[in-house]
Parts: sequence; C-alpha cells; structure tokens
Amino acid sequence: MSESKKCLVCDSNVEPFVSFGKMPIANGFLREDEFSKESFYDLAVGVCVGCKMVQLTELIDPSKLFHENYAYFSSTSQGMRKHFQAFALEALNQTTERSDRFVLEIGSNDGIMLRNIAEAGVRHLGVEPSENVAKAAIASGIQTRCCFFDSKSASQIRAEHGPADLILGANVICHIPDLHSLIQGVCTLLNKNGLFIFEEPYLGDIVNRTSYDQFYDEHFYYFSIQSLSELLNSYGLHIVNAQAQEVHGGSMRYTVCWAGDKTEAPALHSLKSREDQLGLDSLVKLNELKDRIEKSRDDLRSLLETLKGEGKRVVGYGATSKSTIVTNYGNIGPELVEYISDTTPTKQGKFNPGTHIPIMPYESFTANYPDYALLFAWNHREEIVEKEQHFLSQGGRFITFVPTVGIVD
Ligand code: SAH
Ligand code: TMP
Ligand code: ZN
Repeated sequence: MSESKKCLVCDSNVEPFVSFGKMPIANGFLREDEFSKESFYDLAVGVCVGCKMVQLTELIDPSKLFHENYAYFSSTSQGMRKHFQAFALEALNQTTERSDRFVLEIGSNDGIMLRNIAEAGVRHLGVEPSENVAKAAIASGIQTRCCFFDSKSASQIRAEHGPADLILGANVICHIPDLHSLIQGVCTLLNKNGLFIFEEPYLGDIVNRTSYDQFYDEHFYYFSIQSLSELLNSYGLHIVNAQAQEVHGGSMRYTVCWAGDKTEAPALHSLKSREDQLGLDSLVKLNELKDRIEKSRDDLRSLLETLKGEGKRVVGYGATSKSTIVTNYGNIGPELVEYISDTTPTKQGKFNPGTHIPIMPYESFTANYPDYALLFAWNHREEIVEKEQHFLSQGGRFITFVPTVGIVD
C-alpha cells in the first residue's frame, strides 16, 4: 500500500488499510460531452497512528465538491424527511425554553431539517455552501446563508445573530477536512447550556456491515465515539450522549455540550466498550475489513456476470455517490447494469461518474420492469421495498451487497 500521509487532525502518520485505486468524483453525474473532462483521484482510507481518526489519504478541495451544481437534494427521500422531523423536534425539546432561542444548522442543504424548526416559529439559520440547494431552502422560507461553515464565518454569524442554543448537523461534519476550524466555529457560537447535536455515518457500522461504499471523496472522516471524544475534549467540549441510527446505512447521533454542563448518558460507556471489541482503531481489524471489501466486490461482479450469461436484465436503483464507488471499484458499466433509475430530476439524462451507466427517470423503471434491480440505495431499502410491491409481484427481485452480496428474498 502507498506511503503514509499526515493526519489532518494531529499531524501524525496515517496508515492506509484499503485502496480503491482511481475514482471519479462520487456525486459528479455528468453529460456525455463532459466525459473527456472527467477528473479522478486516488481513493484510499487509513487510520492515524496518533489520534486514531480514520480518514481519506487524499484531500479534494471542498469547493470542487460543494458548489452551485451539487447533486444531492436531501428532501428527495420521504423517509429522510420523517427522520429529520423527529430529529429536529427532539433536539428542540432539549434546549432551553428561552423565548428568543437561536438554532443553527451546518450543511442544511434544501432545508430538510430546518423546515421543522422554522415551522415551530424558532429563530434559525442554515449554513450551506452549495448554492442550488441553499436556494431551494430560501425559496421555501428557511433562513439560509450560502457559505462554508468555519471559524471565520462562525464569528460573523455570532456578531449578527448572537450565540446559538442549538447547533445541528447531519452528514456534514465528516465532510469537513479542517475539523479544528469547524470546532473553533462551534465554540464561538455555542451558548452556555447550549447543545451541539450532529449525526454522521458510523465507522462501527461500516466495519460491521462491510458497507465500503461509504468511503468516498465527500466523506473525509469516518468517526467513532472515541476518536471524536478526544478531539472535542481538547476544546472543552464533551460528548454526553450517542444514539445509534439506522439511516444512511448506520449512523451515530452525538450530543455535545460544554464540559460540566451535563452528565454522560449511561449508554455511552457500553457503546465505547463495543468500539474496543470491534477494533475500530486497530490496523489488524481494519485489514480484515479490507479483505471483506475485496470479497464483496468480487462476489457482486460474478453475480452480475452470471445473470448476464442467463440473459437477465439488471438495472440499478438509486444513483447515489455510493453507487459510484461500487461500480468503479467493481468495474461495472452499462454492459452489466443497463441503466440506473433515480427520482432526482437533475441526475436524469446524465451518466454515472467513471463507468458511465445512463441515469433514467423512475418512469423508465415502472414502464418496463427489469428482472433484477440492483439496490444501490440500499440504505433506503425499507422505503423502496414498500414502494415496489408491484415490481416484486411481477417476479422482479432486488440484489443487494450489504452486508453481503445476494438476491433479496
Ligand atoms: N444535512 C443534509 C445534507 C447532507 S449532504 C442531510 O443530512 O441530508 C452534505 C451537505 O453539507 C451539502 O449540502 C454540502 O453542501 C454541505 N457542506 C459541505 N461542507 C460544508 C461546510 N464546511 N459547512 C456547511 N455545509 C457544508
Ligand atoms: P442517498 O443514498 O445518498 O440518500 O441517495 C439516494 C438516491 O436514490 C437519490 O438520488 C434519490 C434516489 N432514490 C430513488 O430514486 N428512489 C427512491 O425511492 C429513493 C428513496 C431514493
Ligand atoms: Zn491524527
């Protein structure tokens, strides 16, 4: 494996444990006339020998990932809308009843979470650098500032809005390579007795489920409670609760406050012991994960080749950033997966990055069912299976690859 890189958190060496080779930008769905301009980077994941933070070994400039053509609109999933409604209201209930409460969300996208805070009549602000999704939020009446959240923008926000009683984030903290600037920003804004509650893909679930498709350019870090605790403690912040969530293939919701403001939830202790058992900072265990990842890739390719040999039609379900990793790592193109069905209008008519499988509207799927639908959006499996009863009753079958490759019964 390639030489180690320096950790962006503590500057110690990062030991790579899995390498995917050259990958295109995971969310970089593109038109045919853009194929020749496509850019690639080395995707490899390692663990820091110092602070134990699991991270990518190559950094991509965030402005190349988050911009006016950002492909992910959070509100496309009905299931996630419900999830964020419950998240927002639960978090709001934990804050003070102060009449002028202020809630800030980092990475608020199209307003999927904050709309619930706005509807509760609470003062709020979303911080969202991708202009197209920020505009969608603003159009639906959600206060949004289009910029990256960091120590500098946090100071400006504090000057304009005062301290925040609640700072929220979901699937965004792991996207921010400069964690020190992010945490300094949180410290600038967080009120005494305020809460910083965020939820991110959980390394424990990636290891448990071999969900290697979580490893991609936007996810710079892969957190455990222990790796985050150390970092936050060094800023006088403390994780007082961690709650496992099923969304996005396994996430963890962290509740953080100023040290001494609150006592730790009893569940934290057992969750940390579980991390020790899983060996989330152990190169031996992470190398075992690498072996399972390679097997998963080989099994999926051989299943698709077998089905092709039998003359079956296979299409992808959900053009996700995760599917970019699975298709490129497994060298799966349109010869094995006819097209990928996706409900997001901005993805339709484009091609998936790297292996260039066409993305088609959902109506193409329902108009002419394939034999198999490869469940790239496996993290929305329940919602999709419930919706696709007709496909199943016509003899259609789903293929999954998490936690192992197979045809879903
Ligand atoms: N919170 C939403 C969106 C997650 S996608 C959800 O869970 O569905 C990640 C979002 O974070 C994108 O909208 C991206 O533009 C935004 N983002 C990336 N870096 C950021 C930063 N430094 N500050 C604020 N938002 C950021
Ligand atoms: P995500 O896994 O990153 O949330 O992305 C899910 C993608 O799948 C997104 O582009 C929308 C698409 N999708 C569908 O096409 N149909 C569905 O029923 C669901 C839930 C998602
Ligand atoms: Zn480190």
